[in-house]
Amino acid sequence: MTSVCSLLLIVTLASQCAFAQLTEPTNITWPSVTSSGTCDNSTDDLITSNSSSDPFSTILQNTFNFVNSTIICKTGCEEAAKIALIEIYYFYGPTETDYEVVNLNNFRALLTGGHWNFSRNTTCFFPGYLNDAKTDYTLTVVNAYLSNNSTNLLVVVWPNRQEYSWMVCQMPYLAQRLAKAFDDFSTASSGKVTTMVFVGHSVGAHLCAYTARLLVVLRIPLLAALDPANPLFSPYPWRCQEGIGASDAECVVTLHTDIGRLGTPIAIGPVDCYANGGTYRQPGCTEYDMNPTGCADKFACSHTKALLIWCYAVRYPGSIIARRCSSYSADRSGMCDSSETIDITSLNSCRIPGPYYFNTTNI
Ligand SMILES: *[C@@H]1O[C@H](CO)[C@@H](O)[C@H](O)[C@H]1NC(C)=O
Ligand SMILES: *[C@@H]1O[C@H](CO)[C@@H](O)[C@H](O)[C@H]1NC(C)=O
Ligand SMILES: *[C@@H]1O[C@H](CO)[C@@H](O)[C@H](O)[C@H]1NC(C)=O
Ligand SMILES: *[C@@H]1O[C@H](CO)[C@@H](O)[C@H](O)[C@H]1NC(C)=O
Ligand SMILES: *[C@@H]1O[C@H](CO)[C@@H](O)[C@H](O)[C@H]1NC(C)=O
Ligand SMILES: *[C@@H]1O[C@H](CO)[C@@H](O)[C@H](O)[C@H]1NC(C)=O
Ligand SMILES: *[C@@H]1O[C@H](CO)[C@@H](O)[C@H](O)[C@H]1NC(C)=O
Ligand SMILES: *[C@@H]1O[C@H](CO)[C@@H](O)[C@H](O)[C@H]1NC(C)=O
Ligand SMILES: *[C@@H]1O[C@H](CO)[C@@H](O)[C@H](O)[C@H]1NC(C)=O
Repeated sequence: MTSVCSLLLIVTLASQCAFAQLTEPTNITWPSVTSSGTCDNSTDDLITSNSSSDPFSTILQNTFNFVNSTIICKTGCEEAAKIALIEIYYFYGPTETDYEVVNLNNFRALLTGGHWNFSRNTTCFFPGYLNDAKTDYTLTVVNAYLSNNSTNLLVVVWPNRQEYSWMVCQMPYLAQRLAKAFDDFSTASSGKVTTMVFVGHSVGAHLCAYTARLLVVLRIPLLAALDPANPLFSPYPWRCQEGIGASDAECVVTLHTDIGRLGTPIAIGPVDCYANGGTYRQPGCTEYDMNPTGCADKFACSHTKALLIWCYAVRYPGSIIARRCSSYSADRSGMCDSSETIDITSLNSCRIPGPYYFNTTNI
């Protein structure tokens, strides 16, 4: 866990220097994400509310530059999205070093690259903010799927994405390009790739949802939204995008681990799964879960647990079983008598809508 979180911040630093390919409106300045400083636990027990004066909101504002989303979300986003560089990695295994990478505009080349396994189903992973194809974070997903040994794995990478809010504002336009390319891929496969499972973490959950809802040819039987990002998507201050919705794919399953902080505070539907109640702090995230002054090794710990739990469930099929229940308090008080359970990775999870609960230890 520690190394995953460290990597998040190391990538933050690296990404400050890698923006050359995008042209951005000159009248917007993008302050850098705070990524160094001493570990200070004084904000460890942050409260979350709707108020822009609550400490966590202030941290988000300072960290992600939510100065004024009204402005952020209207200027230059469409133009930037049209030229944004998107790469698709295909990990064909057996190890993480066995992959092909293509530009989004050349997506269909993967079908003729000599590695595509037409007898497998395909999963496409959309990483969260600050993550590229070869960080520990993404490789955790890659290795989980490689160990399962039954799925083609794609990873959608956005190398020059810049600041979080800039990324969010481009998302609807970027999704148009992605949807076209995925449909084209399906068409080019001559009926051999008709479905894909989409898995997205954090802001990536919104991007894959925006993409899925625009698809015409390719079908998405399951969209796994792993703690969809809260900042700029929630009904709280600075909302600028509506975000993922229940009908974006044939079955949308959301896994909540950091409600109201980095993760969305709302139930997405039709199936919402709450790990350990869904809130900060998740088991194994003992302190400094998110620290404004940059405690590198614990950043976004609870938020990242959604991804790690998913990887665990992929690696060990049947290991994460969630139980349907009317509320978390009913679950806690043992009042939950539902016999309805789901394996969170199952394609049939949406058979019975509702909130589902499960507990984990430190995954
Ligand atoms: C930024 O510049 C563009 C083009 O010059 C202009 O249309 C837009 O209103 C400006 N935005 C702000 C926030 O000043
Ligand atoms: C926070 O840090 C102070 C000083 O290092 C320590 O005394 C205190 O126990 C810490 N609190 C928590 C909740 O870890
Ligand atoms: C936040 O605002 C919404 C809508 O205004 C309200 O329903 C909700 O109870 C509020 N939550 C908190 C924690 O204040
Ligand atoms: C954000 O910008 C909009 C449009 O320019 C303006 O009406 C609003 O007052 C601004 N809000 C803040 C909090 O500055
Ligand atoms: C492949 O996907 C199809 C359609 O989503 C599904 O019916 C089938 O069970 C999947 N096969 C495997 C081996 O997962
Ligand atoms: C995974 O698939 C490959 C190719 O079919 C096979 O050689 C290998 O033994 C499989 N590994 C496992 C763990 O099933
Ligand atoms: C393609 O996938 C099938 C089903 O998982 C597997 O049996 C086969 O060995 C794979 N082919 C290669 C070349 O890995
Ligand atoms: C993992 O492999 C099992 C057995 O091959 C398969 O039934 C299951 O669908 C796979 N899980 C995922 C998430 O692909
Ligand atoms: C999760 O743990 C709580 C508290 O220990 C317990 O009351 C609840 O029944 C558990 N829920 C599930 C789904 O196991």
